[in-house]
Amino acid sequence: MLAGKTFLITGIADEQSLAMYTAKEIIKMGGQVVCTALGVSSHHGDLSDRAKAYLNKNFEDFQQAVESALGKDVKTAVLDVTLEENVADFAKGLKEEGIELDGLLHAIAMDKTIRNKQVKPLLEVTRDEFCDTLDVSAYSLIRLTHHLLHAEVLQRGASICSISYIAAEKVTFHPYRNMSIAKAALERITVELADELGRSHAMRVNAVRFSPYMGSKAGTATLMPEDVTTSDKMSPLGNATPEDLAKEIVHLFRPDVRITGEIRHVDGGYHVTG
Ligand SMILES: NC(=O)c1ccc[n+]([C@@H]2O[C@H](COP(=O)([O-])OP(=O)(O)OC[C@H]3O[C@@H](n4cnc5c(N)ncnc54)[C@H](O)[C@@H]3O)[C@@H](O)[C@H]2O)c1
Repeated sequence: MLAGKTFLITGIADEQSLAMYTAKEIIKMGGQVVCTALGVSSHHGDLSDRAKAYLNKNFEDFQQAVESALGKDVKTAVLDVTLEENVADFAKGLKEEGIELDGLLHAIAMDKTIRNKQVKPLLEVTRDEFCDTLDVSAYSLIRLTHHLLHAEVLQRGASICSISYIAAEKVTFHPYRNMSIAKAALERITVELADELGRSHAMRVNAVRFSPYMGSKAGTATLMPEDVTTSDKMSPLGNATPEDLAKEIVHLFRPDVRITGEIRHVDGGYHVTG
């Protein structure tokens, strides 16, 4: 189904990352992947020893996970989506290597106002915290797409997908506050890009809202076990699995699918309940 197609997969921290499941499914369907993760890049300014150690460990864990789950031949690279030059050089590097992308998965989110599973009240969120969360979790989709397109790496007809959450639209039993606003922005960016890029490059841009999932680092940092069981009970089909999500994303990646500007739900039907 995806033979001869190559996709950029962002947001793998370890084997439990949602993006990893999509990468595996792409390979299963005959496609290829390029995987990126946070690490130390030449574009980082003065990093503290602590920050350097954190980023190096993140990249090592990522590389080990990719090698063991996807194989030794998968290309990996450092990509911090908040660093304009890092993104630009990454795109230029792919061009120089002759790599052409048929799509990309945006699976990136970060909100420093969520600490020890506590969500800061919105009224206490600072301007910097608000802008940082929007930058990493939403604007990064524009930045990444811009550079890949300008480097002529992203091919005409490519498919772009990102992962969202119902909290973009509703206050749920587990409010995210600051992150919800970033997810709402991510979804609006999806729709606007679908129009722009559909007309200019026949590209498709979609987002998928997924069930709460505690397996990943982001999930562990934000969710309580009872959040997952509550959502499981409220969803007519029970919570969706990372494999369900991966299958939907791969469907949207298929070259013959004329779907764009959609905010889809892979959540066991949670969105139709209360
Ligand atoms: N886990 C859930 O319950 C859930 C539910 C719905 C949607 N999502 C979304 O799915 C996506 C993937 O999350 P996950 O659950 O697999 O967690 P994860 O922790 O495995 O993935 C989040 C990734 O974002 C990366 N990241 C953060 N800042 C970055 C930056 N500046 N540059 C590049 N990468 C950066 C992290 O390194 C990590 O790899 C996120 O967008 C998340 O909001 C998660």
